[in-house]
Amino acid sequence: GPDLFRPARPNSRGFDLHHAPTLAQIDAARAPFADATWHAVPLIAGEVAKSDAVAVGSPAGLTSPGTVQNATAADAATALAAATPWDAPLATRAQVLNRAADLYEERFGEIFALLTREAGKGLPDCVAELREGVDFLRYYAHQATGAPAAGIYTCISPWNFPFAIFLGQISAALATGNAVLAKPAEQTPLIAHFAIQILLDAGVPATALQLLPGGGDIGAALTSDARIGGVAFTGSTATAQRIRATMAEHCTPGTPLIAETGGLNAMIVDSTALPEQAVQAIVESAFQSAGQRCSALRCLYVQEDIAPAFERMLIGAMKCLTLGDPWHLSTDIGPVIDETARRGIAAHIDAARQEGRLVAELPTPDTGTFIAPTIIRVKGIGDLEREVFGPVLHMATFKSHQLDRVIDDINATGYGLTFGLHTRIDDRVQHVSERIAAGNVYINRNQIGAIVGSQPFGGEGLSGTGPKAGGPNYLTRFAAPDMQDAAEGW
Ligand code: NAD
Ligand code: ALA
Repeated sequence: GPDLFRPARPNSRGFDLHHAPTLAQIDAARAPFADATWHAVPLIAGEVAKSDAVAVGSPAGLTSPGTVQNATAADAATALAAATPWDAPLATRAQVLNRAADLYEERFGEIFALLTREAGKGLPDCVAELREGVDFLRYYAHQATGAPAAGIYTCISPWNFPFAIFLGQISAALATGNAVLAKPAEQTPLIAHFAIQILLDAGVPATALQLLPGGGDIGAALTSDARIGGVAFTGSTATAQRIRATMAEHCTPGTPLIAETGGLNAMIVDSTALPEQAVQAIVESAFQSAGQRCSALRCLYVQEDIAPAFERMLIGAMKCLTLGDPWHLSTDIGPVIDETARRGIAAHIDAARQEGRLVAELPTPDTGTFIAPTIIRVKGIGDLEREVFGPVLHMATFKSHQLDRVIDDINATGYGLTFGLHTRIDDRVQHVSERIAAGNVYINRNQIGAIVGSQPFGGEGLSGTGPKAGGPNYLTRFAAPDMQDAAEGW
């Protein structure tokens, strides 16, 4: 019967932003939170130490969305002492996670307002982020087995997916019965506090889920203790390496570290590619979310024969993008996360400008932390010294006979997160896919926005340890060490 064809755990339906009544519904649900303020505090099973509340920034340069009282070293100690693995039956854990997923979907107005005002996300990104977050909860609730838990899991997340990645790590650890110490990025404590409060309301015990807002010092305290059974980290490669060193010094040997880190992601467009399809994929991959995705396209290779015409099309498409207030429905590109990020990206663009390598840029607003989409010419990916985390696309050309050398250059960066190929030659798809060292390879489409359950996401080399998030092997690393597959060596 038709039930045979129904997936056991469907992905979230999301919102159709081309449907005017849906947009009106979203606008009405967000409106009460346009000027609201939130307050985040440590949520620990014990007394919170006194510390001052500080204002949380708003990347668009708008009014602050609220205040945070960051966790102290004493709070980290209290949380570690109180942490108790969640020993409820598997079915109960799954039920609670599914209940929380439903609650998030019900509270979408407040979540979208928080994502826009605290993280600068435009509406399409808000929709995608809510979907991915609830998909993770339902997927891991569905995937969990009765394997014994690792114990206490520290979950450390970045600001660029303050809801989805934050909840992805936590729900995986909870589904498998661990106690979680959640350390959100310092830029986005309000979304984190909101998300944790809902999980507690849904029925996760306070000793199994504790929130410690704060910076690297709190992250370090939560990764340097022998009681930790594992660490799930998403963020920069440099921080992951620091955590690995700390764990080697302080944790029990063999304590797992799942690190999902940065990338220098490339795309190759050959002369047989469909230009309209490739241009759309490039614009989305390089500029959507203001380029603040680990998966974002950083270095584009276009075959020399088509490069001049292709470049004109690409610049034309880029010029159609609207930069501005992420709350507005007509905005394509919002701000970057904060002034420190803006300054770093602007310095990179200025250096390219001085060297005469700027191909195109859009005008930048005077206020707020905006970086306009920009294209910079490079000889090849080897010219990129670091991951520039913004809407900046580097572009190179190649001759047909140089394809293998281009692949070697991409692999030589040591990163291996996403990769895109646009071609209509089937053998080339096969050849390039086999040679490229990247966790997620996309053919004739964009290279962002992996879907939980369908496109397990994660890199290799400097981009991560595996196992891939949203895939069937992810939960194995959250079980007790003797239940785990051999570590993948990172
Ligand atoms: P970051 O490394 O600066 O910070 C990430 C988290 O680590 C934050 O919560 C931070 O407070 C914490 N931290 C900092 N120092 C620490 C320490 N010594 N010990 C423990 N924790 C510490 O990264 P970011 O700027 O927040 O995020 C952007 C980066 O994340 C980019 O490099 C991006 O590519 C990467 N990222 C990767 C993925 C992926 O799935 N591979 C997804 C999103 C973002
Ligand atoms: N999972 C996110 C993406 O694929 C990072 O863009």
